[in-house]
Amino acid sequence: MSEQRKILVTSALPYANGSIHLGHMVETVQTDIWVRFQKMRGHDCIYVCADDAHGTAIMLTAEKLGITSEQQIANMKAEHQQDFADFHIGFDNYHSTHSAENKTLAELIYNRLKANGHIAERMITQAYDPEKGLFLADRYIKGTCPKCKTPDQYGDNCEACGATYSPMDLIDPKSAISDATPVAKESKHLFFKLPEFTDYLREWTRAGHLQDEVANKLAEWLDGGLKEWDISRDAPYFGFEIPGEKDKYFYVWLDAPIGYMASCLQYCEREGMDFDSYWAPNSKAEVYHFIGKDIINFHALFWPAMLSSAQFRTPTKVCAHGFLTVNGKKMSKSRGTFINARTYLDHLDPEYLRYYYASKLTAGVDDLDLNLEDFVARVNSDLVGKVVNIASRTAKFIQQHGGVLSQEIADTALWQKFVDASEPIAQLYEAREFSRAMREIMALADAANEYIATKAPWSMAKEPGREKEVLAVCTLGINMFTALMTWLKPVLPKTAAAAEEFLDTELTWRNATIFLGGHKINAFKPLMQRVELDKVNRMIETSKAEAPSPTATPTGWLAKEPVATEIEYADFAKVDLRIAKIIAAEPVAGADKLLQLTLDLGGETRNVFAGIKSAYDPTTLVGKHTVMVANLKPRKMKFGMSEGMVLAAGPGGKDLFLLEPDNGAEPGMKVM
Ligand code: MSP
Ligand code: ZN
Repeated sequence: MSEQRKILVTSALPYANGSIHLGHMVETVQTDIWVRFQKMRGHDCIYVCADDAHGTAIMLTAEKLGITSEQQIANMKAEHQQDFADFHIGFDNYHSTHSAENKTLAELIYNRLKANGHIAERMITQAYDPEKGLFLADRYIKGTCPKCKTPDQYGDNCEACGATYSPMDLIDPKSAISDATPVAKESKHLFFKLPEFTDYLREWTRAGHLQDEVANKLAEWLDGGLKEWDISRDAPYFGFEIPGEKDKYFYVWLDAPIGYMASCLQYCEREGMDFDSYWAPNSKAEVYHFIGKDIINFHALFWPAMLSSAQFRTPTKVCAHGFLTVNGKKMSKSRGTFINARTYLDHLDPEYLRYYYASKLTAGVDDLDLNLEDFVARVNSDLVGKVVNIASRTAKFIQQHGGVLSQEIADTALWQKFVDASEPIAQLYEAREFSRAMREIMALADAANEYIATKAPWSMAKEPGREKEVLAVCTLGINMFTALMTWLKPVLPKTAAAAEEFLDTELTWRNATIFLGGHKINAFKPLMQRVELDKVNRMIETSKAEAPSPTATPTGWLAKEPVATEIEYADFAKVDLRIAKIIAAEPVAGADKLLQLTLDLGGETRNVFAGIKSAYDPTTLVGKHTVMVANLKPRKMKFGMSEGMVLAAGPGGKDLFLLEPDNGAEPGMKVM
């Protein structure tokens, strides 16, 4: 094998302001596969990341929750790390940008930029919330569009007509935080003199560090002229104070990429490694940043410029990927396709998603679609139907021979095909062409299955005297399975570990093509379950339930009351909804809207008063099913106790809908 490389790999640091979702997972899965591949190839590769903890948004969230920003970021970090661990993301270190290491490095880098004359100072005027005592970023200002007069527009552009303006030009501008009218206020800001790096960046962006499509995009920006970059924010802000200034903080994006170095530093100090061997200008190590296409300018312009001014090495490669869509559309909370990592994990095996993403990931920046039907079909057909099947069809015949593999290679041409495929597959991994790698692997799995189907060891085994032949065929089957699982190991670390136990060997790239002859293997246990569509559907339903209530204006009787403030899913989960059968329905003397219902809850009866008289003749209700809130505290009403509440839908008046009895619904059944 070629010389050992020393590689530092990072994924973009997720904001500590929200949960990890399947969009983030595109990136961490892509990065983790690449890192695991490098480690399997015997390289000295480490993977570090951190939470991006600073900024106004985090400060405001913490305030809303009534906790300190420090508590908020600690909670989120724990949650993020658990999510990643459960997806088998193998970080060598996970840190926070709100750390001593990051503070030291951010100050060091800033001081060097300043000493080099790369920091400018200037007064700027911004919108200020006089009530909160806070400068307002554009997205925190709302008002009526000056052009088309649509109300409730945020920031510097109108969603309705597309006009762009300064947020202070909004008609009747308001602070989205306090509702106060913002005023214009001046303050001093610090700027990084990016334009001075134009020539440097023209060269750097064409020196093989970027994908061509990315370099082309950046060339447009470079041609358009770079602007100085505002790196300071006024107090109050959650971040690091700028040395030598009063009440000024580093803008979150200044110290965020430095967080890569900080996490690396923490790792080096813990493991007794040399930080400079990664970051000194003459470092021989490779540095890879995996990022989404939305944050390219930070990584391919600001970051290399800062690093070069501060006398650190610049990244070997910045690898940008596209965005996740679900069923062909942007992830949507109301459609239930904005799926949190935890929601996925509650329903499905993480390796399914790892494989599905791998089967779609390329080295380009195109968006990637998670089509849920295709997801089920692909995982079942490729992993369960093709790969695992090879072992499950052949292992038992090996067991019948004491578990010892034959020395014979039953079909040398077929085995040679596998041997020859190993390096090309490695090259595809190296180039981040995972989708092509998966196609190659599955084509070989097809060849293996074809071979086994043609030889049909299960029929041969019935014929006396052919034991040796059966053993040889199945031995080749197991060897092909071994090679396939080796190549899939970066994608499926858990299944690969189970396969290692079964095969009683370590799956390394070098071993993949060394024929296991005369080797004893262990009993076969099922390695992977099929994906059930049902579980996918339940995950979508759960995601819908987690989404905030829709903002669309309700119509009909619902419209009489504004949509109530959001509740947490946990609050909703407390509601015990049950199918109830209406066994009696009577008008209530002295009440024109009420009916008195007697409900059968599957053995238990309840007396409930319901305001549905306008829609139903009580006699037609008897025998019908409805959904009821079964755990509502009994309420004393003018006419008696009401022991629950029935749910009905519709615009009101005559048209209220209850459930018709149907074959499936039984009184007392829980409604999910
Ligand atoms: N905190 C910054 C990154 C700082 S790096 C020095 C940030 N955080 S993020 O949480 O918004 O995003 C983290 C990464 O996830 C980014 O690379 C981003 O592109 C990626 N993704 C976020 N949503 C995504 C999709 N829907 N699809 C694919 N990647 C997505 O940006
Ligand atoms: Zn408008």
